[in-house]
Parts: sequence; C-alpha cells; structure tokens
Amino acid sequence: MAVLSPFSLLLLLFFIFSTSSASTIYEILTENGLPQGLLPDAVKEYSLSPNGEFVVEFSKPCYVFFTDLFYYEKRITGKLEYGRISNLSGIQVKKFFIWSSVEGIVATDDRTLDFTVGFLTEKHRFSEFAEIPTCRSKPGTSCRGAESLLISEA
Ligand SMILES: *[C@@H]1O[C@H](CO)[C@@H](O)[C@H](O)[C@H]1NC(C)=O
Repeated sequence: MAVLSPFSLLLLLFFIFSTSSASTIYEILTENGLPQGLLPDAVKEYSLSPNGEFVVEFSKPCYVFFTDLFYYEKRITGKLEYGRISNLSGIQVKKFFIWSSVEGIVATDDRTLDFTVGFLTEKHRFSEFAEIPTCRSKPGTSCRGAESLLISEA
C-alpha cells in the first residue's frame, strides 16, 4: 500500500491548488455573490482587471438551456462587481423566438437574479445556475432553426 510522505502530500496539495487556480472564474463568480453556473464549462481562459472588467474566452460558442435557451459567443466581456455584472456583451437569450442580448445580471437577494434583456427585466432563481452547465455546440432538437434566427448585436 502506498503511503504519502508529508512532503509528497504537500506537493500534491500544491499541484491541486496551482492547477485549480487556472479555472477559478467560477469561484470568482461565487466570491462575488453570483452563482457559478452563469458560465458554461468550456471556459478556455479569462482575464479580470482590478476594476472588475473581464473577458472570458470559451473554446467554442455555447448553447445552454436553462429555463430559456441561452447562447454564449466565443468571447464575452463585461464588468463584474459584487452581486452584479454590467455592460455585458456576448450572451443572448431566446425569448418568443427572438434572440436578445443579456445586458446585465444583478443579484437582488441571495436567491434571485434580475437579467436585463433589452428593456425587460426577468427574474431567475439562483438554483437554475447552481451547476456549471455543459457547453453545447447545437441548440438541440427542441430549438430547431435557432441559428438562422440569430441576431447579431448591432
Ligand atoms: C463596456 O464594454 C465595452 C466593450 O464591450 C468597453 O469598450 C466599454 O468601455 C465598457 N463601458 C463601460 C462603461 O464599462
């Protein structure tokens, strides 16, 4: 039976922490009072400025179905503050067969998020975004023709 020496245990812990720090955009979200599942699992890299401006790059564009179908462009940008993402660009949601940009996300309390979509505000529960969702290349059979309806941001 292999027994880890204190030193190799230390090395192992260091390895775990150093590698996990490469994918902590989800932790950054939770540290900022937002659910980790707002971003799908295909994050390739991200940058975050001290003023909260961030860039997230996915390995590919993603479709994710929450209560509505969401589309994540390969690159999204915005400004992250505690409990709030503003000036968001690169995330769209399909409402009534039309794609609209999600411009902001605000935690109104520790269970509810307000999404600003155009001139609408829609409420979502934190629990919808509890798990980090899988990035899908296709919207899926329930959403045929979504790509042809995609409205790119002006
Ligand atoms: C909003 O985001 C754009 C990039 O998408 C950036 O050029 C601009 O400075 C940002 N505005 C604010 C107020 O942060």
